Amino acid sequence: MLWLGAQLTGARCLLLCLLLAILGAQPGWAGRPKALPCQQSPTKLSCKGAGLHRFPEELSQGVKYLELSNNFIRNLSESHMSGFGQLEHLDLRSNQLEAVSGAALAQLPRLRSLLLGSNRLDRNYLANGAAFGLLGNIEVLDLSANNLESHMAGWYLSSLPTLKKLDLSGNRMTRLPAGIFWSTPQLSELNLSNNYIMEIEEGAFGALEELEVVNLAFNSLHCISGFSLRQLRVLNLSHNALELFVSEEGEEPYLLQVLDLSHNRLLYFPELPRAHYLTHLNLSNNLIASLAPSSGLPAALTLHYDEMGRFNGSSGTAAGLTRVANLDLSNNQLQLFPFAFFRGLSSLHNLSVAMNCLQDVTRETLTGGAAGDSVATLQGNVSLSVRFLDLHDNLLRALPPWFFDFLPQLETIDLGSNSLQPCESRGGDRGGTSGGDPQGAGPCTAFSNVPQLKHLSLSRNNITRLQPYAFNQTSLLSLDLSENGGLALPRTALGGLELSLQELWLRGNQMGDGSADLPCLGALKSLDLSGNRFSLLPAGLLCSPLESLDVRDNNLPALAELAVASWARSLRVLWVAGNPFSCCGLGWLDVLRAARVRLPDLDRALCAYGHRRGNFSAPLSSHPWGPCPRPKGALAVLLVVLSILLCLGYGACCLLRKGQKPPGCGAARGSNGGGFVPHPRTGQAAKEKPADGDTKV
Ligand SMILES: *[C@@H]1O[C@H](CO)[C@@H](O)[C@H](O)[C@H]1NC(C)=O
Ligand SMILES: *[C@@H]1O[C@H](CO)[C@@H](O)[C@H](O)[C@H]1NC(C)=O
Ligand SMILES: *[C@@H]1O[C@H](CO)[C@@H](O)[C@H](O)[C@H]1NC(C)=O
Ligand SMILES: *[C@@H]1O[C@H](CO)[C@@H](O)[C@H](O)[C@H]1NC(C)=O
Ligand SMILES: *[C@@H]1O[C@H](CO)[C@@H](O)[C@H](O)[C@H]1NC(C)=O
Ligand SMILES: *[C@@H]1O[C@H](CO)[C@@H](O)[C@H](O)[C@H]1NC(C)=O
Ligand SMILES: *[C@@H]1O[C@H](CO)[C@@H](O)[C@H](O)[C@H]1NC(C)=O
Ligand SMILES: *[C@@H]1O[C@H](CO)[C@@H](O)[C@H](O)[C@H]1NC(C)=O
Ligand SMILES: *[C@@H]1O[C@H](CO)[C@@H](O)[C@H](O)[C@H]1NC(C)=O
Ligand SMILES: *[C@@H]1O[C@H](CO)[C@@H](O)[C@H](O)[C@H]1NC(C)=O
Repeated sequence: MLWLGAQLTGARCLLLCLLLAILGAQPGWAGRPKALPCQQSPTKLSCKGAGLHRFPEELSQGVKYLELSNNFIRNLSESHMSGFGQLEHLDLRSNQLEAVSGAALAQLPRLRSLLLGSNRLDRNYLANGAAFGLLGNIEVLDLSANNLESHMAGWYLSSLPTLKKLDLSGNRMTRLPAGIFWSTPQLSELNLSNNYIMEIEEGAFGALEELEVVNLAFNSLHCISGFSLRQLRVLNLSHNALELFVSEEGEEPYLLQVLDLSHNRLLYFPELPRAHYLTHLNLSNNLIASLAPSSGLPAALTLHYDEMGRFNGSSGTAAGLTRVANLDLSNNQLQLFPFAFFRGLSSLHNLSVAMNCLQDVTRETLTGGAAGDSVATLQGNVSLSVRFLDLHDNLLRALPPWFFDFLPQLETIDLGSNSLQPCESRGGDRGGTSGGDPQGAGPCTAFSNVPQLKHLSLSRNNITRLQPYAFNQTSLLSLDLSENGGLALPRTALGGLELSLQELWLRGNQMGDGSADLPCLGALKSLDLSGNRFSLLPAGLLCSPLESLDVRDNNLPALAELAVASWARSLRVLWVAGNPFSCCGLGWLDVLRAARVRLPDLDRALCAYGHRRGNFSAPLSSHPWGPCPRPKGALAVLLVVLSILLCLGYGACCLLRKGQKPPGCGAARGSNGGGFVPHPRTGQAAKEKPADGDTKV
C-alpha cells in the first residue's frame, strides 16, 4: 500500500491511497484475489483462485488432479465428497483449512499427493491428525506454513507408512524428538527449512533408511557433532548457527553428495573423512580463519564440545574428499591460501575463496598454532585440478612465481578487488614476485607464459600502468581491467594477445585520449570502454572485428565515420548514451543505421548544438534534423531558416525535457576504488536460542 502511494502523486492519489489503506485494513480484503473460473480437462480440474469457500459439489468421473489452491476453504468434510474416488492429486495450498474429517479422506482411496501448505492446520490438530491415518496411499504431503509446533507435526505423521516426500518448512518446530519419524519409514525427501529447530534428538532420523534429501536451512542449530546419516545424498544446513560439524566415527562410507553449510558460524573445515561421494561442499559465509589443523582451538570451545578432542591431528585435511568438484569458501576469514590443503581434493573443479582476507599463498603444509598459521615441511608437487578459481575481494599484493605452475588446468581466475600489479614479461621465463618493482610500488605478479589461462579479471586492483607484454604467451580470451582508475595502457601492454583476445573490459578507468594505445587486436569481438574520458576512440581498434562495443559515458563528440564504416560489417550492438555528441556531425549514425547495428540506448543519448541563445541538446533518436550549416543555394538558405525555427522549437522542448531526464543518463557508474571491503556479516541465523547440548543427527 505504501509502495503504491509512493508511485502516485497528488492529492487525488493520496485520497485513493487512504481509501485503499482503509480497505486494506479490513480483514480478508487485501489478499482476496479476483475470482477466476475453473479450468477443466478430462483428468484435471483447476480452480486456483476461483473464490471458492467450499469444496466443489461433485466432480466429473475420471478427474485425477484437482487444484483448489488460493481459495477460502475451511473445512474438508465427507458431505462434499462424492465421486472423488479417482482423485490422485489434491492441491489445497493457501486456503483457510482447519478441519479435515476422516470420513472425507476415506473417500479418497487413490490419493497419493496432498498439498496443504499455508493453511491453519495447527487448529484441531488432534482430530485432523487422527483423520490422516486414513491416507492409505499417500506419498507426497505438504504441511508447510501451518503454524505447526513439533508435537503437532509429530501427531500428523503418526501413521503414514507410505509417505515418501514431506514438506514441513515454515512451521514453528523447535526440536525433532527421537520418535517423530518412526511411522514414516519410507520417507526419502524431507523439508524442515524455516523452522526454529535447535535440537535434533539422537535417533530422530534413525528409522529412515530411504532418506536421501534433507533440508534444514534456516533453523537454529548450533552443532552437529555426530553426523551419522550415511544414506543421505543432499543435506542443506545453510543459515543455521553451526559452530561445529563432525561426522560420526566408523569405517562405513557416507553417500552424501551435496552438503550446504553456508551461512553458519563454523570456525574450521568440517570433519568429513569418509564422505567419498561428496561433490558439492558449500562453506561460504562462515568464520573459517584457518585451514590448519586446529590445535589452537579456543579453550572455551574445547570445553564446550567434548568432540573437539577428535580434532587432534586428523582434522584440517580434506583427505578423502576425492570427488569434490565444487568447493565454496567465499566470505570467510582466511588469510592464507594453502595449496597443500586442497591437494587431497583431486577432482576439484570450481574453488571460491572470494571475499576472505587472503594476503598470501603458500605451498607448504600448515601446522596450527594459536598465533596463526605457520608453515612446515616443504612439499613437492602440489598441483591442483582447479579450472575456475575465484579470489576476488581479498588483500593479495602478489602471487608467487610458481602459482600458475601448480594450476595446470586453470582456465578462469577472478582476481578482482585485490592489489596485484602485473609484471613486465621478460620473454619466456616468468619473472615472479621477486622480479619486479614496476613503479617502486611493491612486488608484481607474472601473468605471462600461462598458456592454460583463458579468462582473467584484474578489475579494481588499483593498477595504474600495465607493463609491456604483461600477458605475453597467455592466449587470453577475455581480460577485465575495469575500475582501475587512471590506468595507462602503453601500446605493448597487450602485446602477445593480438590473435587471441576476444573480450576486453576497460570500464570505469577514467582513461583519457592517448592512455589506451591498443595494438591491433585481430580477434577482439567485445569491448567495453564505458565510463572513461575518451574524446577519440583508440586508433588500434580499426583492426578489430568488433561485434559489441560500449562507449557510454565518455567525452565523444562523434565517432569516426571511417572506423564505424570498417566495423559496420561485424558490429551488432553499440551503446552510446552519455556522450556530448555534436548534432551537426551525425554522419556516423547514418552509417550505423544503414548497417542495421542495434543501438539499445539510443533514446537516452543526446546531442548538443550551439546557438547564439545558448547551447541546446536534443535526443539523438530524433535525427535527422537540421540546425546545422547546409550547402549554398537558395533552397539551402530556406532550409537553414526553417531549421533554425525547428531548432528553436526543439530547444524549448529539450529544455523542458532536461528537467526530467532519466536518472543514470550520463551518470558515472558506481565503483569503489578497489581495495578491501570489510565483511558485511549478514544476519547469521536470526533467531537466538540458548546454547545447549550437542545435536546428534
Ligand atoms: C465442516 O463443514 C460442515 C458442513 O459445512 C459442518 O457441518 C461442520 O460443522 C464443519 N466442521 C468444522 C469442524 O468446522
Ligand atoms: C523447502 O521449503 C522451502 C520453503 O518453503 C522452499 O523454498 C524449498 O524449495 C523447499 N525445498 C525442497 C527441496 O522442497
Ligand atoms: C539450501 O537452502 C538455501 C535456502 O533455502 C538455498 O538458498 C540453497 O540453494 C540450498 N542449497 C542447496 C545446495 O540446494
Ligand atoms: C553457496 O552458498 C551461497 C549462499 O547460499 C551461494 O550463493 C553459492 O552459490 C553456493 N555455492 C555453491 C557452490 O553451491
Ligand atoms: C587424540 O590424540 C591422542 C594422542 O595423540 C590419541 O591417543 C587420541 O586417540 C586422539 N583422539 C582421537 C579422537 O583421535
Ligand atoms: C563450475 O562453475 C561453473 C560456473 O561458475 C559452472 O558452469 C560449472 O558447471 C561448474 N563446474 C562443476 C563441475 O560443477
Ligand atoms: C605436478 O604433477 C602433475 C601430474 O601429477 C603434472 O601434470 C604437473 O606438471 C606437475 N607440476 C609441477 C610444477 O611439477
Ligand atoms: C612474447 O612471446 C613471444 C613468443 O610468443 C616471445 O618470442 C617474445 O620474446 C615474448 N616477448 C616478451 C617481451 O616477453
Ligand atoms: C592505489 O595506489 C596508490 C599508489 O600506487 C596508493 O597511494 C593508493 O592508496 C592506492 N589506492 C587504493 C584504494 O589502494
Ligand atoms: C556552448 O558550448 C561551447 C563549447 O561546448 C562553449 O564554449 C560555449 O561557451 C557554450 N555557450 C553557452 C552560451 O553556454
